[in-house]
Amino acid sequence: MYHPGERPRDASIRVWSMVDTANAVTKAVVPAAGLGTRFLPATKATPKEMLPVVDKPAIQYVVEEAVAAGLDDVLLITGRSKVSIENHFDRAYELEEALTAKEDWDKLAEVRASSELATVHYVRQGDPKGLGHAVLCSAQHVGDEPFAVLLGDDLIDVRDPLLTQMIDVRQRYGGSVVALMEVDPEEVALYGCAAISPTNEDDVVTVTDLVEKPVPGSAPSRWIIIGRYVCDPAVYGILRETPPGRGGEIQLTDALKVLARQGEVRGVLFHGRRYDTGNKLDYLRTMVQFACERPDLASEFIPWLRKYLDGIA
Ligand code: G1P
Repeated sequence: MYHPGERPRDASIRVWSMVDTANAVTKAVVPAAGLGTRFLPATKATPKEMLPVVDKPAIQYVVEEAVAAGLDDVLLITGRSKVSIENHFDRAYELEEALTAKEDWDKLAEVRASSELATVHYVRQGDPKGLGHAVLCSAQHVGDEPFAVLLGDDLIDVRDPLLTQMIDVRQRYGGSVVALMEVDPEEVALYGCAAISPTNEDDVVTVTDLVEKPVPGSAPSRWIIIGRYVCDPAVYGILRETPPGRGGEIQLTDALKVLARQGEVRGVLFHGRRYDTGNKLDYLRTMVQFACERPDLASEFIPWLRKYLDGIA
């Protein structure tokens, strides 16, 4: 049995006590300070995180995912012009009163849901110095605890509880955990890419090295990091020392690479449903997929879509 304060002897598999609160993952960090230039002019005055997927802002799906994994302390890393995100997770008294007066209880419940979802905190990332820098902005709030990082450009289907699985891996192995997905070779250069070796468990690997956006032909594998991480607090100390990398930005991948080379990073191989909202084409695909799955829309939307496509074929 592991006692708090004692170093486990076996560095490969650590058995954390169930009551070891210092190692329980309770906080989620969601970077949301990007400029959203890929979606201009829509994002001139509206944060890209607030763009809807059907009728819910993309960032709400991400916060819901954190909550579903038991993380209801959510820190959003925001920047200038992001006030509508704060409003979205706050009460909206005038709207609630109007809906109450109309006795529109369904809409009232929807309006209240986002403000009751989680305890949402905010910190501003003054300088847009990259994902690693955004994560470093969470250090004071998180303290000396492991924490999850969820990137808003990736949505994970609610039927695939990836984050819960990653937290479980962190609890059993210690260290940090990244979510990995296998992609076509020509896509690897768009992501952080992992060199991996097997463990005794299917779908859990040891990450031996990481490269942020490898130049074509030099990638160590086809396994790329999708936007879900469980980080050991040791990552903060390393981020403070991490110089700018790819794109002149401080990269989270570069900090995790240091930990990977020390044998302190695991990967969960994800075979589930991931939706990308980070560029226009993928965003449109995601919107159509979500609409086709919505019980209140699918029966009208799918036949219309078929007919429309037949008409332009
Ligand atoms: C970021 C990370 C990258 C990761 C990707 C996942 O890149 O730096 O390692 O693979 O998110 O979406 P970005 O998309 O911000 O360029």
